[in-house]
Amino acid sequence: MSVRVAPLLRATAGRRIQTAAPSFRSVTFKRGFAEGGPNVPPPSPPRKSSSPYALVGVGVVALGAAYLFFGTSGSANDTAKELGSKARGVAAAVEGKVGLRHSQEDYQKVYDKIADTLEVEGYDDGSLAPVLIRLAWHASGTYDKEDNTGGSNYATMRFKAEASHGANNGLNVARDHMEKIKQEFPWISYGDLWTLGGVCAVQESGGPKIPWRPGRIDGFETNVTPDGRLPDGSKAEDHLRFIFYRMGFNDQEIVALSGAHAMGRCHADRSGFDGPWTFSPVTFSNEYYKLLLDEKWGWKKWNGPAQYEDKKTKSLMMLPSDMALIKDKTFKKYAKQYAESEEAFFKDFSAAFSKLIELGVPTSQFAGDGWTMGSD
Ligand code: HEM
Repeated sequence: MSVRVAPLLRATAGRRIQTAAPSFRSVTFKRGFAEGGPNVPPPSPPRKSSSPYALVGVGVVALGAAYLFFGTSGSANDTAKELGSKARGVAAAVEGKVGLRHSQEDYQKVYDKIADTLEVEGYDDGSLAPVLIRLAWHASGTYDKEDNTGGSNYATMRFKAEASHGANNGLNVARDHMEKIKQEFPWISYGDLWTLGGVCAVQESGGPKIPWRPGRIDGFETNVTPDGRLPDGSKAEDHLRFIFYRMGFNDQEIVALSGAHAMGRCHADRSGFDGPWTFSPVTFSNEYYKLLLDEKWGWKKWNGPAQYEDKKTKSLMMLPSDMALIKDKTFKKYAKQYAESEEAFFKDFSAAFSKLIELGVPTSQFAGDGWTMGSD
């Protein structure tokens, strides 16, 4: 089995690969929320502004406008928070348009810091990249295109109400890590930070460049969406379509996004499932599709939830939802394309992930096109 290793993570990945099959070690990280969630971090301070009065003015005007728009229905507290979100949104939009936002160079410094701290000796396979990708995805994948709720705009996973959703088990590891970055760059919003973390993690693990731009704002607990919006690994194609169509994705995008499972692993104490999808779980590649199609898979005999294992080494896993990508005819067509061409996978993954991390963010809050972060 040939294994490609991402440049930044080469040393660590190399070490892991020697022991990868068949003895991937199981992980003993504690899950965060059953025992009580973390304190909700405060929203970001006001962004850099050469003219603070301008933004205050905009906020006041927005509050007034939102007040007129929403009236006083609902609880006063909720209405105030709704107004607060609207005002922050308007302020963010103005900030972007009139050039008051931090520069690309400033965001590049945040990116560099994340990149420098990805490798962690002794944690999983030596890198936080997989769990940072999962954080960016779960922070965004709550979006519902019908009512335009959810998505990455408000970073609502800061609140226990969302952090404690079963699908988010274990993401405290990623949020806690990002909190340290945030201490150094308090001006960045959580939504921008978490999505930039996902982009950095993909790119620094050898994946494609993903256009990214700032503009997300920190919302309130009232912006938290109901549990059940993220996919369930024990289900198959109908469920995947139901979940991803709701976000506005099509079949090809579902298959492309799922290729992120080349990275990382399942943890028995987080999702109940166990093991990595590929032999090189800190390298972003099209290995996931190749293994799905080329290996023989059977049910794993164990006391945990139903999952597949590869018959040859019994060290790799697939979720029933992963297997749906080769059982469903349409999905399989794309899985084959991506197994045959990493270039095609990278191109489509980049486009779909870029779309994913902008779900729920009003275009008005962005200024201009996405940036290419990182270095060559
Ligand atoms: C298609 C539906 C999906 C299902 C059912 C699903 C399910 C899961 C499950 C059960 C885990 C294991 C969590 C744990 O035990 O730590 C996981 C991990 C992961 N997922 Fe997904 N996922 C899906 C789509 C995605 C997408 C769209 C992305 C990103 C674009 C993604 C990225 C990841 C990554 C990187 C990990 C590894 C995390 C780690 O190593 O800590 N997944 N996923």
